[in-house]
Amino acid sequence: MEHFLSSMPKAELHMHLEGSLEPELMFELAQRNGIELPWDTVDQVRAAYNFGNLQDFLDLYYQGAGVLQTEQDFYDLTWAYLKQCETQNVIHTEPFFDPQTHTARGIDIGTVISGIDRALLHGREQLGISSRLILSFLRHLSEEDAFRTLEQALPYRDKFVAVGLDSSEAGNPPAKFQRVFEKARHEGFLTVAHAGEEGPPEYVWQALDLLKVSRIDHGVRASEDPALIERLAREQIPLTVCPLSNVRLRVFRSLDQHNILQLLEQGLKVTVNSDDPAYFGGYMGENFIEMSRQLPLTRDQAVQLSHNAFEAAFVSDDEKAAML
Ligand code: HPA
Ligand code: ZN
Repeated sequence: MEHFLSSMPKAELHMHLEGSLEPELMFELAQRNGIELPWDTVDQVRAAYNFGNLQDFLDLYYQGAGVLQTEQDFYDLTWAYLKQCETQNVIHTEPFFDPQTHTARGIDIGTVISGIDRALLHGREQLGISSRLILSFLRHLSEEDAFRTLEQALPYRDKFVAVGLDSSEAGNPPAKFQRVFEKARHEGFLTVAHAGEEGPPEYVWQALDLLKVSRIDHGVRASEDPALIERLAREQIPLTVCPLSNVRLRVFRSLDQHNILQLLEQGLKVTVNSDDPAYFGGYMGENFIEMSRQLPLTRDQAVQLSHNAFEAAFVSDDEKAAML
């Protein structure tokens, strides 16, 4: 089974590039850029990854991202992730990046996007990994800040296909960003949003009705609302579920308590993703393999989960047909 899962072609639709920063690269970039880190060793960094909730994680994640300064840093970050994809048979990926994490430190958005885009291009040419980039707004910041970020990104509009919404969910409902998402759609971008990770089912309804999202990121708390489950199934709205992330951030007590297979059996278009692989104990392969160890995952279900991701990808029908 584990060999089957490793060799199965996979697509990833929910992965934050800043969350793929492994401690080894964090130290290398800190040294290259003359930045002091509060840890002395890679083991100390990993020991700090013991999160009580989403906010605990986010505090460390934004601190770690501080080592990213130059175009080459963003290239190296993205390239390291793509090399992991290569070893795990991830043949298509749609990563997020958080521009505000960098522009707030005085880094030009063009530096961020150019480094990422150059690596994605090399990934296509040298590794055969297709990709689409998603710009994600930080929901703990204001809608005005998100508008400013979208304006700054428009000169690079051909480098990303969608906008998303991440960071601290509780208290920052999708409704707060209704107007900036409307503007993004008007500019031709697709939309996605994190909803129903720590936030209530109501936030999933808002993401659908107010932000007009094409996919829900996480969405696992939809199981608390039968009418919402019914709608997600009927409209076949993809959910980008992140099993290892949900356990590390204590959305579920353990992987054997996770509801991913129930959601799948209820007819939802569920996919498997790594979210922040450097922080949560693994990439796509580890997510599938841990699921197979701790949940009664069948081969058919694994194939269905993988197939769902290709179907939910932001690529043309022709490109999908070539990947499937
Ligand atoms: N949730 C919210 N914000 C995030 C996450 C997440 O899982 N990962 C990176 N930013
Ligand atoms: Zn996420």
